[in-house]
Amino acid sequence: MIYDFPISFMFHRQFPGDLGRRMASAAPLCLQPPFPWATWRQLNVLTDLLPGQEGQIAEFGVAKGGMSILLGQIAQEHDRRVYACDSFAGLPEPDPTRDNPYFEAGFYAAAEGSQLLLERFTRELSDRGLSQTVIPLQAFFEDLTDDDLPHTLALAHLDSDLYGSVAASLRLAWPRLHESGVLVVDDFFHPAQGPARACRDFFNEVDEPVVYEVLFPYSVMVRKGEHPGRDDHRAHDGNFYRLTQLKQDSHFLDCLTREVERCGQGSSARVLLQSLEEDEHDIYGYWYALREYWSAIDVPLAEVSQPLTL
Ligand SMILES: C[S@@+](CC[C@H](N)C(=O)[O-])C[C@H]1O[C@@H](n2cnc3c(N)ncnc32)[C@H](O)[C@@H]1O
Repeated sequence: MIYDFPISFMFHRQFPGDLGRRMASAAPLCLQPPFPWATWRQLNVLTDLLPGQEGQIAEFGVAKGGMSILLGQIAQEHDRRVYACDSFAGLPEPDPTRDNPYFEAGFYAAAEGSQLLLERFTRELSDRGLSQTVIPLQAFFEDLTDDDLPHTLALAHLDSDLYGSVAASLRLAWPRLHESGVLVVDDFFHPAQGPARACRDFFNEVDEPVVYEVLFPYSVMVRKGEHPGRDDHRAHDGNFYRLTQLKQDSHFLDCLTREVERCGQGSSARVLLQSLEEDEHDIYGYWYALREYWSAIDVPLAEVSQPLTL
């Protein structure tokens, strides 16, 4: 089946260089999205960041562990560690006042009769020579204590879908993040909206205006210490967004240009390419280009009556 943009981009697998080879090897262990594009961007950012940045790495929300493994391969080259935090038993109960209907308690638990997620992950780490680099922490984030995590983080990846989970991991990660360290929050534009609401409440509380750099399709990246400047405009939801990560990604732009050739001048791919070319702050152009995707996210779940298990 051949899809149009943006769904077509979710199936893109040809990424260049060492990162591309590693991503191909970890793909069966990665959830999609953030894989492949937000993963690709984040790995590029980490590769540039680590040589000049102190601190360890943490992932909050690991599931089958593909992203922790990919982060671990870069961490290993710089003698750092990745703290891979997850219940390994799936999501806790959503809060219906803060999470729009979508997720259910137990999503991402191991499928009945299959080996436990933590066991599978630990074996993968050993097979890939990462046992000393990636440290699994099995707990609900709300139960993690100060002693469980390192004092300083260079990068934290928050990928846990729910308001309460993202709020708990923000409280753990943000104070540990080194000045100019990087925070990535997944599912920010997901219609369930828990992560976006958790960020809004958290950054209001700590009174730190931040800039959200968009990672395709619905993650955002925040650099600690970076605040909105004169060229940033507040969007309708009160946030400041930049599309810099997309605009500076030559592989993303090449693929998008090819997609415009395939899908035509009236396509959503063209809308996105044009808005990136004209204004790297045009979040409305971005939202508009992906307008069919936001509602398409609901479709696969409507079709499955069983909770999503791994
Ligand atoms: C979307 S998956 C993570 C996907 C993974 N980062 C990847 O890129 O493939 C979300 C994970 O978050 C975990 N999770 C969500 N809320 C949690 C919480 N409060 N405490 C611990 N784990 C949680 C779930 O168990 C699930 O494995």
